[in-house]
Amino acid sequence: MLHMIKICQGKATFCSRYVKTHKYILEGKTGYPIVPNFIAGFNGVVPATARLVLTCARVLTKQFDPLRHGFGVANTSVAFLCGRLFALCESDLPYEVKVTEDGDIITLGRHDFGSIEPFLRMTAHPKIDKATGEAFCYGYDVIVGKKTKGVPISSMEKCAAIHDFAVTENYVVFPDTQIVMNPWWILRGRSAVGIDPDKIPRLGIIPRYAEDERGMRWIDAPGFNMLHCVNAWEEDGGGAIVMVASNIVSAEHIFDDMESSQLTLEKLTIDVKAKSMKRQSLSTQVLDFAVINPAYAAKKNR
Ligand SMILES: [Fe+2]
Repeated sequence: MLHMIKICQGKATFCSRYVKTHKYILEGKTGYPIVPNFIAGFNGVVPATARLVLTCARVLTKQFDPLRHGFGVANTSVAFLCGRLFALCESDLPYEVKVTEDGDIITLGRHDFGSIEPFLRMTAHPKIDKATGEAFCYGYDVIVGKKTKGVPISSMEKCAAIHDFAVTENYVVFPDTQIVMNPWWILRGRSAVGIDPDKIPRLGIIPRYAEDERGMRWIDAPGFNMLHCVNAWEEDGGGAIVMVASNIVSAEHIFDDMESSQLTLEKLTIDVKAKSMKRQSLSTQVLDFAVINPAYAAKKNR
């Protein structure tokens, strides 16, 4: 659901509307849930197996067609891209929405930016460089009005859930955290997304305009499970990348108790050549979802 306050001629008007996703429309018609919750919906062997069989049957009978229509809930963030307003969720394409003259919010539909390479989902946290006008997204790539060519990244050792990333003047940084995905876990009655405590988190640094993965450098970052990046920039003429980001200190609690997962803010200074980093804690209390003035994205901010 999107919430909006319109302030006009001394009057405030409030409006809240569901984003009319495929899931919303489909389940509104049938009157019961069809699209499963892929994070929390597969706990317990018997219910998980039943739900999996039911979901497969619905896909086979075309009652539910996730490849054609997606299954996202457009509930993670809102972004302006190419002068259009989108509701985003990383499990699907963005949904374009519009604020009407009379202050209503209408859903225009799923949007793929006129891409020639089909893609099914995109990060909910795109980065916009105001200096160049470019928008950067991952998995799903670079968008400059129209989506440009993709850069496949195959040097991930395990299937990690990457929720956010960083863009600087010359680099893009991806976190490879202990939050991993394994669809086979559903058969064991647990969520397909979970924690691998034995994995050492890493940061992957790739040139911003890389055409392939050859320039990717992975740096071990023990104890740093990044969730959201507030901002990142370069220092020392590009020799260092400074990142301000939230770290999930107790990753094992991230899916059941956000408070206990101890999300704190850190400042990382990465030596790109030496492949090393210095970490500095910026908060002792739980802190996430910090934002900066977007004009400073990819530039040094206080
Ligand atoms: Fe997020």
